[in-house]
Amino acid sequence: MILEQSVSLLHIDRINTFYGQSHVLQDVSLGIDEKKVVCLLGRNGVGKTTTLRSIMGLTPPRSGSILFNGREIVGKPPFRIAQLGIGYVPDDRRIFPDLTLYENLELARRLSKKGKTLWTFEKVYDLFPVFRDLRDRKGTQLSGGEQKMLAIGRALMKNPDLLLLDEPSEGLAPLIVQNLVEVIGRIRSEGVTILLADQNLKFCRRTSDRGYILEKGVVQYQSMMEEIWQNEEIVKKYLVV
Ligand SMILES: Nc1ncnc2c1ncn2[C@@H]1O[C@H](COP(=O)(O)OP(=O)(O)OP(=O)(O)O)[C@@H](O)[C@H]1O
Ligand SMILES: [Mg+2]
Repeated sequence: MILEQSVSLLHIDRINTFYGQSHVLQDVSLGIDEKKVVCLLGRNGVGKTTTLRSIMGLTPPRSGSILFNGREIVGKPPFRIAQLGIGYVPDDRRIFPDLTLYENLELARRLSKKGKTLWTFEKVYDLFPVFRDLRDRKGTQLSGGEQKMLAIGRALMKNPDLLLLDEPSEGLAPLIVQNLVEVIGRIRSEGVTILLADQNLKFCRRTSDRGYILEKGVVQYQSMMEEIWQNEEIVKKYLVV
């Protein structure tokens, strides 16, 4: 039998992140192995988005370390962190409203780091078959759910090793959420590692191997997702709204 060796892709060690005087993340540590899906859980305002923004360098931590592929990324500008292979899909999507779906993808493709093209148009269209019909629609003419998918597709066109997804299931109809579960499974089967922030425990259970629960900017609990799902005490204490 061949045992799969786990290789650490992202290693966050005691980061502290502030907005002005406000100390939001407090000694947050977190690790993600290659090809795994990990989720950040917790109620509103606990620091999920801030954790993703800290990784991307958008709100850089004031102390602590973030190693990506063994390399320190704290202090690097966001564009550089993106070039190193981290894709970010913010909760407000930020696609270009006046460009068509195709143009949005094409722009991302051109920004992709050279020498590595795992994700082609065909592959992204296979992941989201509806894109074939929506190819010439402007960003503004896409539904909220379609814009969300486009934001993911666009991040993939840059061929990331690690994909950060903020609230991917939020506001989606149950059928679309089911579809997204499958999409995430297929992205991971292509070898992309995923860190997602989502309040939907069921969605996290169906997509993620491991979960980290935040409260007031502190990691209060971490475990295999299945264990969290079955741990009534933890769910009640930190997750039920
Ligand atoms: N730009 C900002 N300036 C000042 N404080 C901020 C800013 N953005 C977020 N915060 C504060 O930082 C804390 C963490 O916010 P964050 O957005 O990371 O939470 P979250 O877990 O993503 O919440 P949600 O589930 O609502 O998305 C909150 O108290 C929030 O009010
Ligand atoms: Mg958030």
